[in-house]
Amino acid sequence: MFIPKYKVLLKTIRYLVIFGICSSIHLVYALDNTSIEFGMDLFLNKANCQSCHGWSGDGRKTDNQMPDGANLRESALDRDMVVTAIKCGRPGNNMPAFDRLAYSDGRCYGLLKSQMSATPMPDPPATLQNREIEAIVDFLFAKVIKQGKMNQEKCVQFWGGNPPLCGLITQ
Ligand code: HEC
Repeated sequence: MFIPKYKVLLKTIRYLVIFGICSSIHLVYALDNTSIEFGMDLFLNKANCQSCHGWSGDGRKTDNQMPDGANLRESALDRDMVVTAIKCGRPGNNMPAFDRLAYSDGRCYGLLKSQMSATPMPDPPATLQNREIEAIVDFLFAKVIKQGKMNQEKCVQFWGGNPPLCGLITQ
């Protein structure tokens, strides 16, 4: 009598463990997707990275008045370097700094604003908090950086639908 009960208990525990693992995987996946979507929204709207880098990050800017941004799809930078590029910008090279305190205390390349008159940079469309920068970087590594040239299939994936602009992409 003791053994079957014990077996049932073991079975129940096994189901609970499997269920637990599945739901935590699901949770991590859901969080990841939210971060990517949040980052994409910031890239396109609040931070307006697309004005210089293009909506797909390929450097074909969406605003003619803005400087030419780099082709992020071909960027060779790793995650830390991308975070630094966004926080600190590139003095003298038209990439704005999105960290509100970037040149106030030496956190960026050890430089202060007063030392940068020879290397002016444009103001960012908005400053960003760390968690916003992390979300943009999540988005960039999921959908832009090292993702190859944009094509129709990637465009549909990028937007999660099939907007008319995907039909304009020539292969
Ligand atoms: C005002 C135009 C402008 C805006 C807005 C802008 N960038 Fe840039 N970005 C540039 C330019 C120009 C460069 C190239 C700088 C250089 O050659 O060092 C660059 C470089 C970069 C790089 C380094 C690429 C590499 O491979 O070296 C990254 C990463 C980057 N931008 C990400 C972003 C993100 C993310 C945003 C939005 C949060 C953004 N940029 C907004 C103009 C812009």
